Parts: sequence; C-alpha cells; structure tokens
Amino acid sequence: MDKFQFIETEKEGGIGLIKLNRPKVLNALNRTMIREIVQILEEFDLDHSIKVMILTGNGRAFAAGADIDEMADKNTMGMELANQFADWDRISLVKKPVIGAVNGFALGGGFELALACDLLFASDNAKFGFPEVNLGVMPGAGGTQRLTKAIGKTKALAYIWSGDMMSAEEASEYGVVNKVVAPELLMEETIRFAERLAEKAPLSIRLIKESVYKALDYSVYEGMQFERKNFYLLFSSEDQKEGMQAFLEKRKPSFKGK
Ligand code: CAA
Repeated sequence: MDKFQFIETEKEGGIGLIKLNRPKVLNALNRTMIREIVQILEEFDLDHSIKVMILTGNGRAFAAGADIDEMADKNTMGMELANQFADWDRISLVKKPVIGAVNGFALGGGFELALACDLLFASDNAKFGFPEVNLGVMPGAGGTQRLTKAIGKTKALAYIWSGDMMSAEEASEYGVVNKVVAPELLMEETIRFAERLAEKAPLSIRLIKESVYKALDYSVYEGMQFERKNFYLLFSSEDQKEGMQAFLEKRKPSFKGK
C-alpha cells in the first residue's frame, strides 16, 4: 500500500519529486494532503541522497486552494485548537532548496504553497491568485505576508482585494516566478535547473538559503553579521578544502556535503 494518499513521490539523481495528486478537485489541499507534503519535505530534507526538491501538481492545477468542502463547516475555536496552519509553518524550516513547478492554477492556499517554495518555474498557462474575498475569508497561510514581500504593498493589495488572477507573464515580470516555459517543457526545465543546483556544494547551498531568508527579516547590518558567520562556518567543511584544492589543481570538485 502506498504510504501517501494524496501525493506521489519519486527520487532520481539527487532530486526528490513531489506531485500533488487530487487532480479531480484541482489538487485542493485538505489537511491530510498538507501533512503528507510536509512529511515528505522533511524526509527528503534528512535524506543524504537528495539535494533538491521539486513540488508540482498532477492535472491542470498546481493547487486550486484549501479544500473548500473540508473548510466550509469550520469554526473559529476549532481551528485555533487544531492549530490549523501548524503544518504549513514547518515548510519554512526545510533546509534544502524547494523548487515549485507551477503547471496551472495556483490559487488561495495553492498560491501560498507556491510562495513558500524557494524558486518557481511556471508553465505559460499558469494562473496565480487569491480568490478568498469571493468566499468571505482571506488568505490564512501566509499570502498577505509573502506576496507583499514579493511584489510590494500596492500590487499585493490590488490582487488580494480584487481576487484577480495573475498570469504567468505578470508573475514573471513582478519577480514572483523565476522562469516561464511552455507547459510541455515545465518539468524538463525545472529538473535541469535542479540538477545544476544538485552539483554544487550542498553545505554552501544550505547556508545560502538560510542567509538569503534572513534578508527578509533582518536589518542589512544584522543580515551581514549572520552571513559572515555562515561564510566562516563553511571553512570547517571538507567541501571548502575540496572546492578550493580542485580549483588550484584545475579539476572538477567532488563534493560530499561534509
Ligand atoms: N476546494 C474544493 N474543491 C475544489 C476547489 C477547492 N479549492 N477548487 C476546485 N475544486 C473542485 C470543483 O468543485 C470541481 O469539483 P466537481 O467536479 O466535483 O464539481 C473540480 O474541482 C473542478 O473545478 P471546476 O469545475 O470549478 O473547474 P473550472 O475550470 O471551471 O474552474 C477554478 C477552475 C477557477 C480554479 C475553480 O475551480 C475555482 O474557483 N476553485 C476555487 C478556488 C478558490 O476559491 N480557492 C481558495 C480556497 S480558500 C483558501 O485557500 C484559504 C487559505 O488561504 C488557506
């Protein structure tokens, strides 16, 4: 029996692939599905054979939001006591790169999941948006914060207030996605980029992620102090010796992630 009910997973060549798999309901995110996504992200994070993770959706959506069927009868204290978004918070604790490959709708919680990825590749028919205003609610898994940091207050408010969808082209122009490609090339291009990252020194990749995210919360001064300590820290790794020695010997380095 498959370990997971709502996702499919694959491991190949240093890449851990996670596919949301409820295509009939456009990968609407129920609580079990989010828990499964977080569980596999954490497993891959501790798996030495995996260097980079890719998150995508089966069918014509990345994810069309939280599961409205599951959410419709919720009440305030029930969500507070169940700590409704606790699993989501764990996504930002993942240390390795997570690349989202957005293959269609990324709406509501689906957009929030995409924004929780480190990098985004999108097919040219992808659509991003926050339709919560049409349901009498608002984004609850980080949308107001992450979109505002990504595109600025005025654009974020306009999208979140109106519920309008952002095209892949607009998402690219605003820096929400790294690259837009034809749908049939999405996985190929995303995997190719992930493979390039998988060849780099894993500890460098890890500490760069940690340092870049500090830039979102820290002052430049505090961020630079943090960056410097991480820079020094890498000099206690075998890979720093190997990387620099390989350069001097004019050969390709062989990194071990140690
Ligand atoms: N929850 C539950 N079911 C959903 C869903 C969702 N978020 N999104 C789509 N579905 C289901 C539909 O009900 C439909 O099921 P049936 O075939 O059983 O009727 C199936 O997926 C296919 O969807 P449509 O027939 O609606 O497909 P479409 O192409 O006509 O429209 C769409 C696509 C515009 C994305 C439309 O499905 C839609 O508006 N979906 C809801 C999007 C939304 O409001 N998301 C926000 C949810 S709230 C949230 O996410 C809160 C948060 O911050 C955590």
